[in-house]
Amino acid sequence: MATEWLRDKPITDWGSVKQSTDKKIAVLASSTANRSVTGRTLGLCLNFSSTPGRRLWPTPLRFTVLSQPQQIPHDTGTESGSHDSGEAGSKRATVLVVDFGAQYAQLIARRVRELNVFSEIVGHGLSAAEMAAKRPAAIILSGGPKSVHVDGAPRLDPAVYDLGIPILGICYGAQLIAQQLGGTVGRGMNGEYGRTELSRIGASLILPDEAPSEHECWMSHFDGVTEAPAGFTVTASSPGAPVAVLENDARNIYGVQFHPEVKHTPFGMGAMARFLHERAGIANDWKMASVIDEQVTLIRERVGDARVICGLSGGVDSSVAAALVHKAIGSQLTCIYVDTGLMRKNESEQVVETFRRHLGIELIHADEGPSFFEALSGVTEPESKRKAIGERFIRVFEKYTGGLTEAKFLVQGTLYPDLIESGGADGTAAVIKSHHNVGGLPEDMELELIEPLRDLFKDEVRALGTELGLPDEMVWRQPFPGPGLGVRIIGEVTPERVGLLQEADAIVREELKNAGLEREIWQSYAALLAEVRSVGVMGDERTYGHPIIIRAVTSGDAMTADWARIPFETLEVMSQRIINEVAGVNRVAYDITSKPPGTIEWE
Ligand code: XMP
Repeated sequence: MATEWLRDKPITDWGSVKQSTDKKIAVLASSTANRSVTGRTLGLCLNFSSTPGRRLWPTPLRFTVLSQPQQIPHDTGTESGSHDSGEAGSKRATVLVVDFGAQYAQLIARRVRELNVFSEIVGHGLSAAEMAAKRPAAIILSGGPKSVHVDGAPRLDPAVYDLGIPILGICYGAQLIAQQLGGTVGRGMNGEYGRTELSRIGASLILPDEAPSEHECWMSHFDGVTEAPAGFTVTASSPGAPVAVLENDARNIYGVQFHPEVKHTPFGMGAMARFLHERAGIANDWKMASVIDEQVTLIRERVGDARVICGLSGGVDSSVAAALVHKAIGSQLTCIYVDTGLMRKNESEQVVETFRRHLGIELIHADEGPSFFEALSGVTEPESKRKAIGERFIRVFEKYTGGLTEAKFLVQGTLYPDLIESGGADGTAAVIKSHHNVGGLPEDMELELIEPLRDLFKDEVRALGTELGLPDEMVWRQPFPGPGLGVRIIGEVTPERVGLLQEADAIVREELKNAGLEREIWQSYAALLAEVRSVGVMGDERTYGHPIIIRAVTSGDAMTADWARIPFETLEVMSQRIINEVAGVNRVAYDITSKPPGTIEWE
């Protein structure tokens, strides 16, 4: 049985995890630590990140997922966004962004939302009937990396053009419109990459009026439309794209070769706004507050008077999800916070303070630091450490949820990007987020998932958190590994070492904040080389202390990362403060390793 197999076998070989699925569970590399892919029926999620063999936290989660609401639009057509978002989706105007290359689609979807219109990304494989069933107010075809001429290039069901729904094609999307409706797409042209001059050559219903006759845009294409289909007017061109904007007012179909979604196209948002608000007639009234109202109603309807539990990690997603569910059902929600004793300075107090005292949420504070330290006694090998922490976590979670047998629902902070297939146009698997930092539940506990954030991007979740009254320190928290400071102490983990590291780590993050760099940095922290000592001199005294490593990285998704170029002055203050204020440390070094070859965490 897959559960047994996973429980017994430490996951050290990425490939074997994928193959030993017995067709029920598959695990894919993920861009953050918190994604996994499951088959449809097995109630088990894993949680580990992009580095094969390193992530075993906390695994496995042993509960039965009765319903599978995480199906992504690509596979499921009309069912997408069931439970939490489907009903709401039918009430609000939705723009479908058809994905021809994942990173473009995400950005477009974000921009549409910035224009206060709700958007949803769907796969290009959806049929016209499936798209129509979603009753979109408009459709945007994204750019993509392929040429329309190559075998296997992604296509759109041609019947979509006849649905009478306003369509905007961007880059590849524009070329597809031209090709599928009878125009010509040139091959092997010179292409244009980057800043490009766009020239108006006719009155346009898409380009904003304030855009001058010659203006800048951002291009990234090799092929280009050379002849627009019958019925289309060409309203702009560029040196390498004779048909840079094509428009068919009668059919309400438009195409732009440039990328309106990128910041380097100054009039890009104007063009998208014109398409959405004027051509498609969509009001700009989607906002965070509507998400709260919609979700509160949906959660109430779904939950009735049942009990709901939520494992809080202190991270942004679970905190916001808990606050939202609490707003809907109040005391029917019980949160469990497993305090491993390995959290950052004051973090646990803040979680308890915010949730229990400030928001009045019923919170079980599983203050279990001592039992974690006991489990970690004498353990130095990184994987053994992770395993020890993971197992303890599950035991603790079981202990505290044991009395909640009547619980029917489990809240999970799944975000929208977690639901989108990472392989873009070619993938078919449904990607769901695992229950990061939440331990296993008793095996006989059958829970349905509530995922109130599944329509939202990370920054939208932050905005929602703020709207719900969560403090900035919580809403803007950096990613933090489940095993906590345990994997930032190189050597055995003891309470004293954790105390020392908490102080040094707090200084690093405080000084980064003082330098105004906090939000530019993906993660910043201090690591302790607990088994290393070096000689120094302080106040004429010889010292023999431990080194602290400062790590600060920039990243988009934790798959790759670069060391942050933080100013020397900031590093200097960090170093001075750590040595002066943290007893036992006499040397500070800055880690200038990118990922790959390094990883973000030291263990
Ligand atoms: P690495 O060290 O593999 O980390 O470059 C990538 C990202 O994942 C986070 N991380 C974890 N998150 N459980 C988690 O929930 C874990 O066991 C874990 N290990 C690493 C890490 O902080 C970084 O953001």
